[in-house]
Order: sequence, then C-alpha cells, then structure tokens
Amino acid sequence: MSKIVLNLCLIAMCISSASADVSTPLRDLAKKHRLPLGSAAPIDLLRSEGDGGKFPAFLSQEFNLLEPENDFKPPTIWRGDKDFHLDDADWLLGKPGEKGWAQNHSMRVRGHVLVYARDDGYTVPRWLMQKEAQINADQARDLLHDYITMLVGRYRGKVAMWDVANEAIDDRPNQNPFNLRNSFWFRKLGPEFLVLAFKYAREADPRVELYYNEYGIEGGGPKADHVIELLKWLKQQRAPITGLGMQWHIDSGLSLAPGDAHYQFADRVKEIKLGFMITELDVAVPVVSRKRTDPDYGMTPRDPNDLQAQANVYKEVFEYALSYSNCRGINLWGFNDRHSWIPGFSRGERGAATISDQSYERKPAYWAIWHALSR
Ligand code: XIL
Repeated sequence: MSKIVLNLCLIAMCISSASADVSTPLRDLAKKHRLPLGSAAPIDLLRSEGDGGKFPAFLSQEFNLLEPENDFKPPTIWRGDKDFHLDDADWLLGKPGEKGWAQNHSMRVRGHVLVYARDDGYTVPRWLMQKEAQINADQARDLLHDYITMLVGRYRGKVAMWDVANEAIDDRPNQNPFNLRNSFWFRKLGPEFLVLAFKYAREADPRVELYYNEYGIEGGGPKADHVIELLKWLKQQRAPITGLGMQWHIDSGLSLAPGDAHYQFADRVKEIKLGFMITELDVAVPVVSRKRTDPDYGMTPRDPNDLQAQANVYKEVFEYALSYSNCRGINLWGFNDRHSWIPGFSRGERGAATISDQSYERKPAYWAIWHALSR
C-alpha cells in the first residue's frame, strides 16, 4: 500500500471513530439509521426550565422527537363544547404561522392522542361523559369531526405523527367486535369511530403519519391477535393508517431474542404491510419501598444488578427495532427516573425505569442504547 493510501486510510479511520465518540448524542446516532428517536415529556418541565434547565437540555441534546406526555390528551385540550386549551400546545409548536420551542430546538413532535378510547379521568373529558345521555350518534360524529379537524388542522405540517386512537382493545374477553372496550366513542358509534377518526385526521393533514397505539401486545397473545384483526379491518375500510404503535412498558426481567414471540408479532405487522413504532418504551425494576413524600420514592433498585439487566433489555429492544425495515421510530416514555410515571403507576413497587438518574447521570441503559445505535 502506498504511503498516501495508508495516510488516507488512517484519516478515514480517525473521522469514522471521531464521528461516534462518547460525546455523540443518541439523536445523531439514530439519524444514521434514519430512525426518529424521542421521549415523552411534560410541556411544563420545558416551559419552566425544569431542574435548573437540565430537563430541556437533556431532551433536546439526546432526542430529535418529543411527545407531550399528557398535554395533547383530550381532557387537557378539550375543556368544554368548542372550548379548547391550546396555550401549551401553541408554546411548543407555535401559533399558526409561528414557530415554537420544538422547531427552535430542531425536534419533531409526536401527537398523543386524538381518541383515548377508554373511559377514565385522563382519557375522555369529564364534561363530555356527563352529557352522554343527550348525545346521539350524529352529534357524536360531529363532535369527533370538529375536535380532530381543529387540533390536527391547527398544527398541520408541525406535528410529524399522531396517535389517532389509543388502547381501544380490552385486556379481558368481551363480546364486542375486535374485543373493543365499552368506551364513550364505541357506545355512540361502534367500531366505526376508529375509521372516522383516521379519516378526519387525514383530511386535516394530508402528510402526517397516523398510528393506532396499544399496550400489552408486544409479545403476542389474544390481545395482539385482536389488534391484527382490527388493523386488517381498518385497512379494508380504507382508514388511512401508517402503522401500529406498540407501547413497550416492560420489566427488566424480560428477554427478547430473534425468532421469539416478540419478533413473530412484528413479523405479522409487516405481513399486513403496515409500519410500526415503539412508542412508550420504559423498563421498570423492583425498587426499595419508600413513602410517596420521600424524594427517593421509586428511585432505588432493590438489587443494583437490575440496572445491568435493564440495560440489556433496552439493548435488545433497540436491536429488535433496528432489524425491521418497517420500524418507523422509537420513543421512550421519559428519560429521567425522577419524572417517570412508573413509580406512581405501580404504587412505589417498581421504578428507576429510564436511562438517566435523579442527577441526570447516564445509566447503563443509556450506554446500552448508545452502543446498539453505534453499530
Ligand atoms: C400516562 C402518563 O405518563 C401519566 O403522567 C398520566 O398520569 C397517566 O398517563 N399509556 C399511554 C400514556 O398511552 O398516555 C400513559 O401516560 C401511559 C400508558
């Protein structure tokens, strides 16, 4: 080899290793795979420069996608008949014709969620539930149309993807088509509410990606079977659906390997020619039990070795995602243990589910993702 060629090779090696040294943030690594990489985040922690500015800084440094955690849910936005709370959404995305925090930080936004298809305080606006007896099917259709048209239309071209419907399928068997939950929109419109929601969203934004999002289906089973049937039916009905959002709220005890039930389920999604996203990944570990008022509530793993197991699970999920050409992105459900929903959700039994600790130190899980994306 001539001296010049040798030198060129050495320079090329330096460049390629320099392009992925440990200071390379995850978003830059993900970009090489053309994979949007995001996290859920509450808008108020961005607006208030949470944790002395560390919260927004970590988010915008490491991710190129952001999903407001609760701020785009119907009960937050839809405060009454034609009464919408859009202040936080406008701050994030800009009022019509303006830019917001997301664009100023080169972040795309994942909208969550147009129809949260179960009856809970955080899913359907209370005022709407209270008026249920006076709302007939035509009125329900109009309400759904007007809400989706308003929200998707207002942020047309600014939101990259929407969860059109979330958690519409029951965990336990019932008699409904596709085992759909007995929810407000189902009672009014039957399964058709799902088709309509997708169509209304598409009419309001011709380019935005549109997802059906669900939990507890990643590893197959009866609920996953219902999801596949529902997705096939939605396609037959010409609902403009981009793909399936799989939440992936999992535990550090999970194991994942090519060919297993997780891969088989993703294969089935591919067979029906849909994309998919991992939309709400977190990996919970058992934690030391503490009072809710304790600042370390839900923070301390009972067994420190679990952090390594957790890292391995994150790695395996990323490898799985990267192995599918129809995987359209990965979104974490939070990136900092202090702000994760898991301790509250599991009543302090599990926690420490994210990739950074209370002091924003990167955990083994962060580096596991970093390495998975560096390949
Ligand atoms: C959770 C939020 O993280 C919590 O802050 C809130 O109290 C309840 O909802 N699946 C979803 C998300 O689709 O909307 C949920 O978010 C977590 C489970």
